[in-house]
Amino acid sequence: MLTLNIIGCGNLGRTLARLWHQQQQFQIRDLVTASPASASRACEFIGAGRPRSDLTAMAAADCWLLATPDDAIAATAARLAESGLVSANSIVFHCSGSLASDTLAPLAGSTAHLASIHPVHTFAVPAESVTRFAGTYCAYEGEPVALAGLLPAFKGIGAELIAIEAATKIHYHAASVMACNYLVALLDASLECYANAGIDAATASKMLLPIVHQTVDNSLLQSPQRALTGPIARADGNTVERQLQALTGKSELLANLYRQLGLQTLQVARRRTSASPQLDKIEQLLRAPAPAYSNKPG
Ligand SMILES: NC(=O)c1ccc[n+]([C@@H]2O[C@H](COP(=O)([O-])OP(=O)(O)OC[C@H]3O[C@@H](n4cnc5c(N)ncnc54)[C@H](OP(=O)(O)O)[C@@H]3O)[C@@H](O)[C@H]2O)c1
Repeated sequence: MLTLNIIGCGNLGRTLARLWHQQQQFQIRDLVTASPASASRACEFIGAGRPRSDLTAMAAADCWLLATPDDAIAATAARLAESGLVSANSIVFHCSGSLASDTLAPLAGSTAHLASIHPVHTFAVPAESVTRFAGTYCAYEGEPVALAGLLPAFKGIGAELIAIEAATKIHYHAASVMACNYLVALLDASLECYANAGIDAATASKMLLPIVHQTVDNSLLQSPQRALTGPIARADGNTVERQLQALTGKSELLANLYRQLGLQTLQVARRRTSASPQLDKIEQLLRAPAPAYSNKPG
């Protein structure tokens, strides 16, 4: 079994390490985090590994996972390169979605093999993630020798593997930022609109839950154009105008969000209804500068 050292062992690092340990995919060796106490907690959670106070105190290993925050990966790779700890033909990888394996460039001069493998999973609660990881898509790129060592270990804990181009990886990551992080922001904006209508967050959340689930299911199990309902789908320009006017009176941010997402919604609507003068009128409304609405009575 290959040995694995981990530098940075927070939500993602400790979840994957516990799964690899339980499924006997890697022998977990040394762990370093920003604070030594955290490394000890990570070892307890994983059920294996040795907490180390600093990178320089780590022993050699076949594989190295750099699971620090993204901004620290390049500097950590540089420290690892300087340490001389990475032995010939070992594998170094990270799990960032926005960065490719070239972030590990400080190690490129060594004989190490470099890769990145990004799980499309939210590791907010490691104890839950260990039970839900199986079936997670993991996008990989990097040197063939590194991938030959790493992909079986990901497969062994239930990952679905998909190749990605390093050059376009930033678009791939923007996709999940839009779908996950921005969905959170969108729901927050929706709750703000409910509050403007005098509906409290707890009631609004209960109202939204079924319709949001249904919309996500319809969009992804069928298609966005099948899922789309509402004023833009019906080409109800007056409703769009009144909503834009009402939001402009409350919050510029909400009004701008409504405009921008309205334009994306128009693209979806146009896939169903080719040329439509009503949709052209809605586009003019959404593209009009804010003052055109804010002067009108609410
Ligand atoms: N969380 C997710 O849902 C998710 C999903 C996919 C990919 N990823 C990727 O996984 C990686 C780790 O993310 P995460 O969410 O697990 O982060 P995290 O929970 O914040 O954990 C980061 C870990 O790095 C340690 N650390 C910070 N700076 C360090 C340094 N300079 N040297 C050594 N250790 C350092 C922290 O130490 P302390 O414990 O002492 O603070 C912590 O253990 C990132 O590349 C991220 O893009 C995350």
